[in-house]
Amino acid sequence: MNSWSFPSQSPTDTRRLGELIGTNAQPGTVISLVGNLGAGKTQLSAAIAAGLGIDPAEVSSPTFMLIQEYEGRLPLFHFDTYRLKDIHEFEDLGVEEYFYGDGVCLVEWGDRFPELLPPDLLRIAIDICGETERQFELTSSGPFSDQLLDTLRAEN
Ligand SMILES: Nc1ncnc2c1ncn2[C@@H]1O[C@H](COP(=O)(O)OP(=O)(O)OP(=O)(O)O)[C@@H](O)[C@H]1O
Ligand SMILES: [Mg+2]
Repeated sequence: MNSWSFPSQSPTDTRRLGELIGTNAQPGTVISLVGNLGAGKTQLSAAIAAGLGIDPAEVSSPTFMLIQEYEGRLPLFHFDTYRLKDIHEFEDLGVEEYFYGDGVCLVEWGDRFPELLPPDLLRIAIDICGETERQFELTSSGPFSDQLLDTLRAEN
């Protein structure tokens, strides 16, 4: 377990963090995004998509779809658990297939059903510090996510 704080003063800083993550994501990378409404989970997701070569304008909160798929350097699967009633509804989406596959998975509100997420993942908690200030706290939880976090820190 390893952590790294990234202060963001503006959406531009957040875009830079997301693109850094998207550029360095690997097949099997799973990222849990945690933070209140309007924290920036979707903004960060769009920037991660951009780093994977996907048009960020296509990325929005997967409100009705629950899962959105995009084709980039790697396939990207974007989940939002906010509207799921219970863990069974999440399980019924077939999430394990995605989490243990070769794409990149982003899970907004990832702390709602932590039992279904892989143990080795990158957790990104976002704190709202001001109108345009955000604090991103990135934490890894196993060798695979540790390596990604080390790369992000080094490349920043
Ligand atoms: N530094 C910043 N980084 C990211 N977003 C910022 C920043 N400063 C201001 N914002 C604004 O905060 C909002 C973040 O919205 P976003 O949809 O990404 O939040 P969210 O965490 O996905 O919320 P929800 O839970 O409602 O889906 C946007 O309107 C964005 O312009
Ligand atoms: Mg969102």
